[in-house]
Amino acid sequence: MGVEICVEGLTKSFGHQVIWQDVSLTLPAGEVSVMLGPSGTGKSVFLKTLVGLLKPERGSITIQGRDITKLREHDLYEVRKLFGVLFQDGALFGSMNLYDNIAFPLREHTRKSESEIRRIVLEKMDMVGLIGAEGKLPGEISGGMRKRAGLARALVLDPEIILFDEPDSGLDPVRVAYLNQLIVDLNAQIDATFLIVTHDIASARQVPDNIGLLFRRELVMFGPRAELLTSDEPVVRQFLNGRMQGPIGMAEEKDAAQVEQELAQIDDSPRVQELTPRLLPGPGITRPPRWQAIARSEAQLHQKEVAGA
Ligand SMILES: Nc1ncnc2c1ncn2[C@@H]1O[C@H](COP(=O)(O)OP(=O)(O)OP(=O)(O)O)[C@@H](O)[C@H]1O
Ligand SMILES: [Mg+2]
Repeated sequence: MGVEICVEGLTKSFGHQVIWQDVSLTLPAGEVSVMLGPSGTGKSVFLKTLVGLLKPERGSITIQGRDITKLREHDLYEVRKLFGVLFQDGALFGSMNLYDNIAFPLREHTRKSESEIRRIVLEKMDMVGLIGAEGKLPGEISGGMRKRAGLARALVLDPEIILFDEPDSGLDPVRVAYLNQLIVDLNAQIDATFLIVTHDIASARQVPDNIGLLFRRELVMFGPRAELLTSDEPVVRQFLNGRMQGPIGMAEEKDAAQVEQELAQIDDSPRVQELTPRLLPGPGITRPPRWQAIARSEAQLHQKEVAGA
C-alpha cells in the first residue's frame, strides 16, 4: 500500500541562493499531503528534488530503504517508475496529439501491446473528461484541458507516488471540485502516496491528510490537516486565511513591529468545531483505513479541545 517518503535535513541552493534548508518531513504511505507556500518559495523545486531531477546539497530522501539523492542515474531511472508527476507547466510534447502524449510513458517504459495501451489511455482520458479530444495538439486546446491531459499522463503507469504541481491552476471552480473528488477517489482506489502543491486554500482544507507550508527558506510546519487548520502560528494562519495582515508581505518580509500591530487587530482564532470535514470518496469507494493518520489527527484534536476548554 503506497510508499513512504522520508525527507531528512534537505537543503537546496542554486549558486549562492538558498531555496530552502534543513527540510525534514515524512510523507506517510497511502496518505494525501498538500504543500503550500507563497510564490517562489521553492515548492516546484521541492517536487523536482523528490523525483531526483534536482540534486540537493545536503540531506536525504529515503524511499523503500534507499537514499535516492545518492543513486546513480541507472538506479534512479528504476526509482522514477514509482512516480507519476504532473509538472506545473504540464510538460506535454507540443508536436504530439493528446493520445500520443498520454500513451508516451507506456510506450517508453512498458512492453504493452498497442491495444492494451489504447485501453489504458482511453480509461485515463475518460477519467479526466477528455474523451473526444484524442487527436488535438496541446497548442489547440485550453490551458485547463492541457492540465487534465498532464494528469491523465501522470496516471498511466499506476504510480505508487503521485506528485501534482498545481493541478487546479487554470481550472474553473466546478472542475476544481471534480478534480478534488477525483484525487480523493483515486487515493482510496489505488492507495498511492500523494503530494500536491496548490494555492487553492479550499482544496487544502478539504482534500489532504497532511499539510505543509514553506516560507522564508524553511518548512514552517508539516503535520495533520487539523493541526495546521487550527494552528496559531502567524504564518500558517495568515496563509490559510489568505490575509494581508501577518508576516507574509507582497515582495519582501515585513518588519516585526508592523506584523505585531497587524496581528493585534484581528481575531480569527480557528476552532476545532469549525474544521471543514475532509472530502469523502464517492459512492461505492471505500478508503482502507489510514489508522496512523486517524490516530495522529485525533490526538491533535484532543489536545486542542483540552487546551480550549
Ligand atoms: N533550475 C533553476 N536554476 C536556478 N534557479 C531556479 C531553478 N529552478 C527554480 N529556481 C529558483 O528557485 C526559486 C523557487 O522556485 P519554484 O519554482 O520552486 O517556486 P514555487 O514555490 O513553485 O513558486 P510558484 O508558486 O510561483 O510556482 C525561484 O527563485 C526560482 O527562480
Ligand atoms: Mg511552482
